[in-house]
Amino acid sequence: MDIGGDIHYAADLLKKGEVVAIPTETVYGLAANAHDSMAVTHIFKIKERPFFDPLIVHTWSIETAARYVLDFPDVAMKLARAFWPGPLTLILPKKDLIPDIVTSGLDTVGLRIPDHPLTLALLKLTDLPLAAPSANPFGYVSPTTPRHVADQLSGKIDYILDGGPCRVGLESTIVGFEEDIPIVYRLGGITVEKIEKVIGKVVIRSHSTSNPKAPGMLKSHYAPKVPLLFGDISELLPQHSGKKVALLTFREMSGLAGVKNIALSPAGNLEEAAQNLFRVLRSFDHADIDLVLAAPFPDHGLGRAINDKLRRAAAL
Ligand code: TXA
Ligand code: MG
Repeated sequence: MDIGGDIHYAADLLKKGEVVAIPTETVYGLAANAHDSMAVTHIFKIKERPFFDPLIVHTWSIETAARYVLDFPDVAMKLARAFWPGPLTLILPKKDLIPDIVTSGLDTVGLRIPDHPLTLALLKLTDLPLAAPSANPFGYVSPTTPRHVADQLSGKIDYILDGGPCRVGLESTIVGFEEDIPIVYRLGGITVEKIEKVIGKVVIRSHSTSNPKAPGMLKSHYAPKVPLLFGDISELLPQHSGKKVALLTFREMSGLAGVKNIALSPAGNLEEAAQNLFRVLRSFDHADIDLVLAAPFPDHGLGRAINDKLRRAAAL
């Protein structure tokens, strides 16, 4: 397996029906030609992902996105214009030219224009819609560097397109429409506040565990291998006194001499915290600790998405 910045090589592999890891501003994706059902099947196998969990299709312009859908409601168009390229996925009614395997048989497709120069160039070069889930084994933390991808998938793919570390570090926010009413199915890299500035109040439905529309909604997800508890540190810490504990917090906590404390943003910046979250969750798997205690983040902006990820990482 190679890691490099060659979009022509990546394009050749994709046209041949191979799977290639690609950089995006959110997390790395595991991409294949969305028109090629065999190639898409391969993605599910590599990820060990259940076939009922649909993939997002990546493209490079609103016009190309419109090729794949039956309808692009005005409210969705407003969001596309405001946030594409960027960490937003829109769920829209699909045309038959997107194979059922991509969407797990649903009559909708998730579409997104990623905001990464290399991947945008690759999408233009191939002019193919690229189906791509996050490039991690199903249920594990998403990768934000080429090294993360290689650590878990090196024997299974031929090429990782190296676009450096991901700028946002959280997956895209997913918005669908029921009777043209916008519904947020997954909290992610575009905040609810930003979305509401463009289209007004939205419904958030990312906590359901029964019959999930978006399996990012499944409760146990994004989980590192070390057990993680999410809650009030001053309550949790005394309950685990005999163990090697690491604290995961927004800023550094004071008055905790002798306890390992990893602050995601000592300066108190939620963007920076989001950027660091998945890298730090992964690092716990290689640290000499028994347990991670994670404290809630401020419940606004990207803090909401971070809390959502931590809650899921904690669910067993
Ligand atoms: O930022 C991202 O979205 C990254 C990068 C690679 O673009 N991709 C990503 O894909 O996070 P994945 O497969 O790990 O998560 C996609 C989520 C899944 O929870 C899936 O169920 C949901 O999107 N999804 C995809 N198509 C859908 C559809 N038609 N209806 C409802 N949910 C859908
Ligand atoms: Mg994923």
